[in-house]
Amino acid sequence: MAKKRSLVSINDLYDEEIEGLFTLADEMGLALKRREMLDLCRGMIMATLFYEPSTRTRLSFETAMLRLGGMVISVADAMKASSAAKGESIRDTVRVVQNYADIIVMRHPADGSTKLAAHNTDVPLVSGGDGTHEHPTQTLCDLYTIRREKESIKGMRVALCGDLKYGRTVHSLAYGLARFGAKLVLVAPLGFEMPPHVLNWLKYRYNCTPETYCRLDEPLPASTSGRRSAAHLLFDDVISDIDVIYLTRIQRERFQTKGEAEAAEESYSMNAAMLKKAKSDALILHPLPRQAELSYKIDEDRRAGYFRQVAYGVMVRMALVAFLLGLKKIKAPKTIEAPIKFVRAKNARCANEKCIIKSAEGTQPRFVKSNGTPGAIQCYWCDQEIPSENDKTGLGRRQVGLLPD
Ligand code: NCD
Repeated sequence: MAKKRSLVSINDLYDEEIEGLFTLADEMGLALKRREMLDLCRGMIMATLFYEPSTRTRLSFETAMLRLGGMVISVADAMKASSAAKGESIRDTVRVVQNYADIIVMRHPADGSTKLAAHNTDVPLVSGGDGTHEHPTQTLCDLYTIRREKESIKGMRVALCGDLKYGRTVHSLAYGLARFGAKLVLVAPLGFEMPPHVLNWLKYRYNCTPETYCRLDEPLPASTSGRRSAAHLLFDDVISDIDVIYLTRIQRERFQTKGEAEAAEESYSMNAAMLKKAKSDALILHPLPRQAELSYKIDEDRRAGYFRQVAYGVMVRMALVAFLLGLKKIKAPKTIEAPIKFVRAKNARCANEKCIIKSAEGTQPRFVKSNGTPGAIQCYWCDQEIPSENDKTGLGRRQVGLLPD
């Protein structure tokens, strides 16, 4: 039997597989256009298990499964409507749900939660977003949109703007863009910059050092109407040279100080005046939902690609589901997958308060060699590097061995 494949990080897929998925998505799109009935997934069931709100991700996965001739069972508000409300662990929930479904799509507020779930199921588990960590299927939709509308990803200057700290879409997307040879420009208000572990991974693994407009040296000016903020001034300098402008909202639900969010949102909003400075063939994308950072006034401009991006989501997810269920084959490089090598670091501690390790009872802390900084270790669940003061023994840097799971 073929090995079960899950998708909890965009880096779980080889480049060739991502390209293969896009070719498959093109085929799915043609079938949808011809209104052909597909019955690839006849008799199969998808379970969607969403512990956080969602419109696009859950419904597009469910649409994809139905369009493939399969069936869907769903818990849309799993924190309240599943046994999570009675204290059931993620591990138990997915072990149960795998008896009902052939594939599980899950969204959860803790970083690394979908990886933990994938470890505890025998059916493929797809992440619909895990906390502030990653959102791999949104990235597939984003990369596919760029490829469809711009033909190639390679060489494109892509600006990721907004909440790069708490926004999971931009983490996965940064990896994907770097892998396919795009040039990254990062634009974030003070306090919302791309996390160090993502930057380190980009630098050391993918040899990509983004141009960054994150580090504003002065505090954001008080929001007085008509006055442009520091982020605006900086972004103004480069906007005329950007091929793809990817906006994201400030993830207000992920931190406490709401005033901060308002000031930040105003600092990088895309409106008619900003769009005038953009290239005539620029592509504006947004994973949605939007807040003040994306004006409704630009929706009718042909450069506004965010609703086309939504439409592509169904065909991309159809391709992914068919692939993970083993119903469509994609050629991948014949590499022998090495077993995960955990690092013995007894006193190390993941400092990420949003990591699943902080809330999932009975889950072992696990550390692996960092994908970023050479010689460092990272949390296996959430990918964040372990600051050396949390790894007092230094063992993490020396002893590498296999631990039983
Ligand atoms: C995103 C998410 O949930 O991370 N939405 C989506 O899936 N399209 C973006 C967001 O919530 O800001």
